[in-house]
Amino acid sequence: MIELKNFIHLTPDERMMVLTWRNDALVRSFMYTDELISSDNHESFIDSLPQRKDKRYFLVYKNSAPIGVIDLVDIRDNTASLGLYANPFSDRKGIGRIILRALIRYAYENLHLSTLRVECFGENEKAKNLYEKFDFIETKRRVKNNRPIICMELHREHWNA
Ligand SMILES: CC(C)(COP(=O)(O)OP(=O)(O)OC[C@H]1O[C@@H](n2cnc3c(N)ncnc32)[C@H](O)[C@@H]1OP(=O)(O)O)[C@@H](O)C(=O)NCCC(=O)NCCS
Repeated sequence: MIELKNFIHLTPDERMMVLTWRNDALVRSFMYTDELISSDNHESFIDSLPQRKDKRYFLVYKNSAPIGVIDLVDIRDNTASLGLYANPFSDRKGIGRIILRALIRYAYENLHLSTLRVECFGENEKAKNLYEKFDFIETKRRVKNNRPIICMELHREHWNA
């Protein structure tokens, strides 16, 4: 069973676990903000979320095991940008597929959005392949911090539930 736990409701231990994941070298290397995040920053970020209608972050559990983090940001006009990372300490296969599916369902079935956007670094083959498997279409390429970025989109009518 898949459970999405809103960051707003995380326990102190869950908050700490998520910070450890987010600060993991592999996870950070594929994020726009790749510096280590301090515990104070992390706590204030989570404490700010109840006031933010444009952002939602969730810890994803599968059968009571925490497997990853998903988020929607820039939620407006029926669109949002997504982000995700798998628990870097898990050796389970297929986490990416499980958490992306959960995120798309939440966005289309609960929030009734019509378009999801995602950006990934050009060298992030895993992420790019994952998004393509879910029928995200490349819309453009750009460069950020001297690194190529691939921009992709999935429209609700192209999502094969
Ligand atoms: C991206 C991420 C969530 C993928 O999670 P994962 O658990 O490895 O993904 P899955 O095992 O579900 O694989 C999903 C698809 O990714 C692709 N993939 C997996 N491993 C791959 C590899 N080594 N090389 C290329 N593609 C790969 C495959 O298409 C795979 O589908 P398949 O197994 O049906 O062929 C995970 O690697 C991660 O957390 N990375 C760091 C953070 C990150 O990059 N986030 C995305 C930012 S845009």
